[in-house]
Amino acid sequence: MLALTMVALKGGVGKTTVTLGLAESAANNGLRVLVVDLDPQANATLGLNPPTTRFSTGDVLADARDGVAADAVTASGWGPMVDLIPAEASLEHRNRPGDAASALRLRRALRGVADDYDLVLMDCPPSLGEVTRNGLAAASHAVVVTEPGYFALAGAEQALEAVTVVRDNTNLRLRAIGIVVNRLRATLGEHKYRVAELEQAYPSLIVQPPVPERSVIQRAEGAGVPFRASGRSGAAVGRVFDQVFGELYRRTQTGVSR
Ligand SMILES: Nc1ncnc2c1ncn2[C@@H]1O[C@H](COP(=O)(O)OP(=O)(O)OP(=O)(O)O)[C@@H](O)[C@H]1O
Ligand SMILES: [Mg+2]
Repeated sequence: MLALTMVALKGGVGKTTVTLGLAESAANNGLRVLVVDLDPQANATLGLNPPTTRFSTGDVLADARDGVAADAVTASGWGPMVDLIPAEASLEHRNRPGDAASALRLRRALRGVADDYDLVLMDCPPSLGEVTRNGLAAASHAVVVTEPGYFALAGAEQALEAVTVVRDNTNLRLRAIGIVVNRLRATLGEHKYRVAELEQAYPSLIVQPPVPERSVIQRAEGAGVPFRASGRSGAAVGRVFDQVFGELYRRTQTGVSR
């Protein structure tokens, strides 16, 4: 079973957007997807527009019994291929530092549950606190998300370092399989420069193509619908994520990673 966790140190770079884009592409390819919203801001939950919710990732982490996450799985508003474990604001209370064992709470809670899906996608908060550690400890692969801005290289470096720390301490199978560059404005010299810089530093990790900046992304997320349900520009964004998903999926199969 594939479990991808989206990480970035900085807020607002597109972790949630990439989570949603990958969920959409995977579902379109016939994969059963479970999205686990690990951010108290609950943006992925809003984007997936679940008709009802009962328990959240905060409850799951608080309980942490073997397989207990099954109780919190709910249908999304996107149809039968995408399910969700929603987040709510109280998840913030779980972001205090814990011991090594507490990083494994999510992994234990997901035991067995994740087997019902082809792909689990975990959307993390913009910090490397306890909740992100749980997301990484429960994953098979990590995907770093960055904007092509001034802090892109340093941010990617720190996120990869965080992945290495979790791998060495709690999850030996964890591999970073890609850096997704989001919000690219291809005409901006600064963006071109930052992408080139990232490609030079991490030639095998940068995922092609970068995700362009498109206002339809915000509209679709606000409306709680897949990108593809949002006209021609939404469909174009959907095709970009098909390529990003295809590339990441290929890497999980061929072992290109670090
Ligand atoms: N490629 C893009 N084009 C246009 N808007 C985008 C793009 N990517 C993200 N956004 C918008 O930018 C905002 C932040 O993106 P997103 O929520 O995906 O980032 P995040 O890394 O998950 O943020 P946080 O750290 O707060 O969880 C959202 O309003 C989103 O709709
Ligand atoms: Mg987010």
